[in-house]
Amino acid sequence: MLLGSGELGKEFVIAVQRLGQYVIAVDSYNDAPAQHVANEREVINMLDGAELDRIVAKHKPDIIVPEIEAIRTERFYGYEQQGIRIVPSAKAANFTMNRKAIRDLAAKELGLRTAEYRYANSLKELQLAVAAVGMPCVVKPLMSSSGKGQSVIREEADIEKAWQYAQSGKRGDQSEVIVEAFVKFNSEITLLTVTQDSGMTLFCTPIGHRQENGDYQESWQPAAISPLHLEEAKEMARKVTSALTGAGLWGVEFFLADEGVYFSELSPRPHDTGMVTLAGTQNLSEFELHARAVLGLPIPEITHERNGASAVILADEEGVNPVYTGVEQVLVHPKTDIRLFGKPLMRPYRRMGIVLTYDKPDADIDVIKQRAVELAKYVKVKPAKA
Ligand SMILES: Nc1ncnc2c1ncn2[C@@H]1O[C@H](COP(=O)(O)OP(=O)(O)OP(=O)(O)O)[C@@H](O)[C@H]1O
Ligand SMILES: [Mg+2]
Repeated sequence: MLLGSGELGKEFVIAVQRLGQYVIAVDSYNDAPAQHVANEREVINMLDGAELDRIVAKHKPDIIVPEIEAIRTERFYGYEQQGIRIVPSAKAANFTMNRKAIRDLAAKELGLRTAEYRYANSLKELQLAVAAVGMPCVVKPLMSSSGKGQSVIREEADIEKAWQYAQSGKRGDQSEVIVEAFVKFNSEITLLTVTQDSGMTLFCTPIGHRQENGDYQESWQPAAISPLHLEEAKEMARKVTSALTGAGLWGVEFFLADEGVYFSELSPRPHDTGMVTLAGTQNLSEFELHARAVLGLPIPEITHERNGASAVILADEEGVNPVYTGVEQVLVHPKTDIRLFGKPLMRPYRRMGIVLTYDKPDADIDVIKQRAVELAKYVKVKPAKA
């Protein structure tokens, strides 16, 4: 049972179905991407614990695979006790849906290097927190994703705006925020990490990405990183995934700065920046790796096969029944591919597809990346004419 049926879920469903699995794809709206390819579907509010209980009792899944954070994850502990496998584990899904749980685990319990941080429950506390970590700093609701409710405080006058913005962008009713010192990083990476029942943890070649408006714009593999920083990142990824327990693929996010590597956050599931692996950059894509780890199947090695990049195709207006134009101008190029997610609804900045580019493992990654970015501009998504 897949909880959350977006574009990442869709690729995962395809991967597990190739391994003979029967999939029930769940989302809050009908015709979500993964539902197009699943055996069955359910449309429920996944933050409603009673609704979750109802569909779990109805379908009796062997495995529950969360694809998003906005789920009543407290329920997972009970399902796990009933013998249902939660991917990667109930603890991992529950901790990562709340920034406080995961940050305290990483910084306090495991001693990983993170940005200096404080929490605040009110505007007054936010003022104190900002004074403690210094400006500039980043304010985020404890529960949110894709940069929702997140803003940077650069001067005193931004504090109240940041508080209000966080309150408007939060998920659920908790008003508490985290305030993080702004890390002046040179670049950021996702280190895809695979934990397995066998106990052997594997790493993919690091992926570089650029964020704007709360979401990634392009990602590329491999990312430039010094061997020393890579070792640091792997050690941190190993520690945090092993503390959260379970088998599966994780996207561990790091900032690379002059003074060293900072742990930022992690997804206990395939990562959006990891869609670059759909360009055949590895022997197994992040979805195929997740599938094998989840099913307890062996992964003898992960090899880097090509250099590649992904660039996002966004909608720029509200509407239904999207029509894509410019696809020919992309696919006319060799070493290029595209994914169009088939989402029934559009809204500004919603990700509707990606362009993938690749070349040999010794090809210039900046050229490959630039090609993805330029080609993605050709694709326009417009609502169908009535
Ligand atoms: N302390 C920080 N210093 C500098 N930049 C930051 C900091 N925190 C976040 N950012 C920037 O904002 C981006 C999004 O932050 P973060 O990953 O915490 O938010 P998110 O809403 O969970 O995003 P997503 O769900 O898309 O991964 C980061 O990738 C980074 O570019
Ligand atoms: Mg992030």
